[in-house]
Amino acid sequence: MMSELPEHVRRNRVLWDDWARKYVAPGETNWAQDSPAWGIWRVAESEVRMLPEKLAGIDAIELGCGTAYVSAWLARRGARAVGIDNSEAQLATARRLQHQYGLDFPLLHGNAEAVPYPDASFDLAISEYGACLWADPRHWVPEAARLLRPGGRLVFLVNSFLMTLCMPAEDGVAATDRLLRPAFGMYRVEWPGDVGVEFHLPHGEWIRLLRRSGFEVEDLIEVRPPAGAMTRYPFVTLEWARQWPCEEVWKARKPSTAGVER
Ligand SMILES: C[S@@+](CC[C@H](N)C(=O)[O-])C[C@H]1O[C@@H](n2cnc3c(N)ncnc32)[C@H](O)[C@@H]1O
Repeated sequence: MMSELPEHVRRNRVLWDDWARKYVAPGETNWAQDSPAWGIWRVAESEVRMLPEKLAGIDAIELGCGTAYVSAWLARRGARAVGIDNSEAQLATARRLQHQYGLDFPLLHGNAEAVPYPDASFDLAISEYGACLWADPRHWVPEAARLLRPGGRLVFLVNSFLMTLCMPAEDGVAATDRLLRPAFGMYRVEWPGDVGVEFHLPHGEWIRLLRRSGFEVEDLIEVRPPAGAMTRYPFVTLEWARQWPCEEVWKARKPSTAGVER
């Protein structure tokens, strides 16, 4: 029931049910594309390596799948994909595209902070601007750890923390070369105008949270778009993104022999 969801999840559901119409066309483009391209600049998989080398036969969950094109890329490579998303409107597009492309995998309407699957169900948990940005990390990260088998991988792509410090609050204005807000204490972020609730963490906070949840941090990729790259998003220019990372990819792994660091 909607009233039982945490406040930020309820608010983000209303937002994403509304924004879903703006994500139909990008969803269609990404479903039509065979080779994965990531983030707002559509950086090639060979640059960021979001996907593990072996996908055939693995169980994978996409946390905040939206139109589920990432799950489609996984399924086409032989993974048993599952997508979960907080917005029924986003999932409606995903279901239509599944039908169009003849791909069938489970799509769940729900909160990635509490996924209705048993412990140790998956080998990969992945999120591109999904739950990793819009869900509370103190809940979704331990939940991802619970869902993964020993040796399982967590990979997610979010706005870089640096860019979050440099983004003017006004909608549609690009990041500047000035630090506009304090880094210390940043966690839950609500931009002006009812645009939902995001979560942005300093790197040390991510590392501690991941380790506390039982992960080993394997890598942090600062994404650099290639010269000439284009984006439909107004919050950063290519000039900025070529000088400083505007996106980052976190890669973590549950140790093969389960052990939680305290
Ligand atoms: C930007 S889309 C991510 C999908 C796709 N990778 C993309 O970039 O378009 C963000 C998605 O996260 C979903 N989302 C937000 N909070 C969530 C939560 N707590 N659990 C599951 N999904 C969530 C939204 O409903 C939305 O579909």
